[in-house]
Amino acid sequence: MPRTRFLGTGFAVPDRVVTNDDLSHLMDTSDEWIRTRTGIQERRWAGDGDTNAALAHEATVRALEAAGLEADTLDAIIYATSTPDHFAPGNGVYLQRLLGLGPIPSIDVRNQCSGFVYALAMADAFIRCGQFHRVLVVGSEIQSTAMDISTHGRDTAVIFADGAGAVILGPTNESGRGILAFDLHGDGTHAEKLWVDAPGSMYNPRMSHEQIDEGRHFLEMDGKEVFRHAVVRMPESVRAALAATGHAPADIKLLVAHQANLRIADMMQKSLGLRDDQVYNNIMWYGNTTAATIPIALDECVRSGRIVPGDLIALTAFGSGFLWGSAVVRW
Ligand SMILES: CC(C)(COP(=O)(O)OP(=O)(O)OC[C@H]1O[C@@H](n2cnc3c(N)ncnc32)[C@H](O)[C@@H]1OP(=O)(O)O)[C@@H](O)C(=O)NCCC(=O)NCCS
Repeated sequence: MPRTRFLGTGFAVPDRVVTNDDLSHLMDTSDEWIRTRTGIQERRWAGDGDTNAALAHEATVRALEAAGLEADTLDAIIYATSTPDHFAPGNGVYLQRLLGLGPIPSIDVRNQCSGFVYALAMADAFIRCGQFHRVLVVGSEIQSTAMDISTHGRDTAVIFADGAGAVILGPTNESGRGILAFDLHGDGTHAEKLWVDAPGSMYNPRMSHEQIDEGRHFLEMDGKEVFRHAVVRMPESVRAALAATGHAPADIKLLVAHQANLRIADMMQKSLGLRDDQVYNNIMWYGNTTAATIPIALDECVRSGRIVPGDLIALTAFGSGFLWGSAVVRW
């Protein structure tokens, strides 16, 4: 059975840079508070005309260029987002339309911050069993429109941001190369600890004026609980995925983790006993772009030479659900 390898990566973020000082004019917060609690210095928020699908399209075009492939070689799209442009249909078909593709299948994955790792696992299964040869996996988010940009919503508004990352995947028979293992988990007992309540089909109408007045359409987070679980689950999952390949954390060239928060990343690094050069962080510049953080980081690492063919790398994510998981890749 072949393994799945990465053929190309790309990312796109909106042009609009929002600094911590910009936010301090919109709510009671400060550059110092945001930097020390989250590590974030600035982030990108959608401007006029930016859509989730348009960002995904831009990221895909770059990933295709990097892979040296034309869009019409793609067999399937797996699109991870928690912030689709519309309630229905999912964003996959909008991306297909923007790419001008024929009627290839597209699948939307609703797994929030872990969406990219889950989408990768699905793509890997399709490729290994021979169903699809070239799969586009995208993580794309517009979180800025899901946040309460006021002092009331400041715990989330300073963290979440917009962006997209894309990878093109295909089979390889090169010995030892490609995606080697996954470790995936979910625990719905914590579903309301990081969620967007409305609109929802359990309500009729799906969103009421009262819900809007109460801010139930905003992303709501129990930050302390998310933190407490994230710093345990991600290292645990990285160890499990590595163990399945006969490796230990010390063996990896690089850990590319979901960019939730720099303090979470620091605790994870300590827990796994990794050196600074074994960890990649870019949350300082992009904030938490949910399903997009890992493919954005991967593209930066590949283009800057931090990841080269043959490197053993680990990917890990944790977020709303709670859902979490990891992957181990011989690049
Ligand atoms: C959100 C988070 C940074 C808050 O940090 P914290 O140390 O837990 O802070 P607390 O919630 O105890 O709040 C401390 C104070 O800061 C205030 N505060 C919250 N957000 C603030 C902001 N942006 N600016 C200034 N003050 C803020 C709180 O209102 C609180 O004030 P109070 O003591 O007067 O009530 C932290 O919980 C966290 O990082 N959680 C994980 C979030 C995450 O990674 N999410 C993504 C997961 S995928």
